[in-house]
Amino acid sequence: MTNILCIGAGYVGGSTMPVIASHCPEHRFVVVDINEARIAAWQSDNLPIYEPGLDEIVRKTRGKNLFFSTDVDQQIAEADIIFVSVHTPTKTFGQGAGKAADLQYWEKTARQILENSTTSKIVVEKSTLPVRTAEAMERILNSNGKGLHFDVLSNPEFLAEGTAVRDMQNPDRVLIGGRETGSGKKAVETLVEVYANWVPRERIITSNLWSSELSKLAANAFLAQRISSINAMSALCEKTEADVSEVAHAIGLDNRIGKYFLRASVGFGGSCFKKDILHLSYLCEHYGLPEVANYWEQVVLMNEYQEMRFASNMVTSMFNTVAGKKIALFGAAFKANTNDTRESPALEVCRALLEERANIVMTDPHALENARYDLGELAERVTFEPDPYAAANGAHAIAVLTEWAQYTQLDYEKIYASMVKPAFLFDGRNLLDHKKLFEIGFNVYPIGKPALTHLRTE
Ligand code: NAD
Ligand code: UGA
Repeated sequence: MTNILCIGAGYVGGSTMPVIASHCPEHRFVVVDINEARIAAWQSDNLPIYEPGLDEIVRKTRGKNLFFSTDVDQQIAEADIIFVSVHTPTKTFGQGAGKAADLQYWEKTARQILENSTTSKIVVEKSTLPVRTAEAMERILNSNGKGLHFDVLSNPEFLAEGTAVRDMQNPDRVLIGGRETGSGKKAVETLVEVYANWVPRERIITSNLWSSELSKLAANAFLAQRISSINAMSALCEKTEADVSEVAHAIGLDNRIGKYFLRASVGFGGSCFKKDILHLSYLCEHYGLPEVANYWEQVVLMNEYQEMRFASNMVTSMFNTVAGKKIALFGAAFKANTNDTRESPALEVCRALLEERANIVMTDPHALENARYDLGELAERVTFEPDPYAAANGAHAIAVLTEWAQYTQLDYEKIYASMVKPAFLFDGRNLLDHKKLFEIGFNVYPIGKPALTHLRTE
């Protein structure tokens, strides 16, 4: 039996470890966190994150070979392999503020591992980190006078929220980076063996440490870049009567381009794309590559433009004022099937409309609690309403901001009847049947397609 510890019981620690534990009944897994409320929630029937399929796996493994604890020191002492999946946000202070990675949580963990270890260990970077962070980790850990040796591996996580369990069960690839030394190779092989319990060998790839660290930033940058590219096209489509879905379909059939991640939207959100691209851009600046830094930063700037363009289009279309108008925001989560609202475009649009003094009602099946928290003081000016029918009742407009499947099933005739006329619908996800909505009577504004309106323009 190997004792496997994960430090950080957030989205990544909390969704990866149960899946790994379910495939490795011979090993013992513990997930620790300093956040007591979070650990208590992981130990309860009300898990702290909403992720399809996760409840069942936690129920199957918890108390058998998976445990949650706040006793970080004790669990470090007992562990053979330690995954570190603490958060790595963007610095808000000092050098690199607003762009560089804040590595304080990461470094504290390294020091805590060192302090509490009495045996040599494998330490695995699961968090997303700037290239060459493993070097700093190695230096801290191997500076001990206890005669212990630590092998540091990079094993970035590629799962997406909302499909975390599926992504873990059937990953496109697992990447493990390590040193070329004897013990480095042995450590890599040990981790390969863990994944090989359910992942086909050909999908477990190994590389040097720096390639592995950089591949994670590169993957997120490429994914986000596709969204910014199609969103840039959507702006042009709206000016030219081209249809962005038709353009995406036509270009996506080219195998070299591929069809995924070409859905134009109100913008990409989530805790990682923006931060990882800014970290990448900062890293490029650090290495004296300003042109490369600017190139990647543009992906984030285009996303901010798209979010603001959407909000501004709402105001312009509604006769240049939304002050005092009730607007129902359908969706708070940054994407469907998660309760995560970090960097959600829904919150950005909400902030912009509050600035215009609109009366905002926000609805979402799972993310209202997090939205309230993330909006901070502004939450006092927002009504949170779980029922979409109640949210739309008496509203001048609806804005669809998260692609929840249930929004396609609503009775829009009933919703239309309950709204102030002319009734507006802005579809920030191109989720709904626009022609049908137009026929019901809505003035419909999709992304990257001609608007369908009953308003006379003379
Ligand atoms: P998170 O904020 O949800 O969770 C991090 C957890 O670490 C928190 O609960 C925090 O209390 C805990 N923590 C911090 N310092 C600690 C310490 N010293 N000891 C014990 N616990 C400590 O973050 P997340 O979304 O899980 O992301 C973690 C990392 O994984 C980030 O680097 C992120 O970029 C990366 N990542 C995230 C996703 C995702 O979908 N969220 C996907 C891939 C990679
Ligand atoms: C993303 C990556 O997909 C994961 O591989 C990565 O591990 C993770 O970031 C991370 O490092 O945190 P995630 O942010 O959870 O995962 O979700 P995505 O499915 O990538 O969606 C991100 C955002 O882009 C969402 O707001 C989504 O609605 C938007 N999006 C996605 C679009 O607007 N259009 C698309 O075509 C696809």
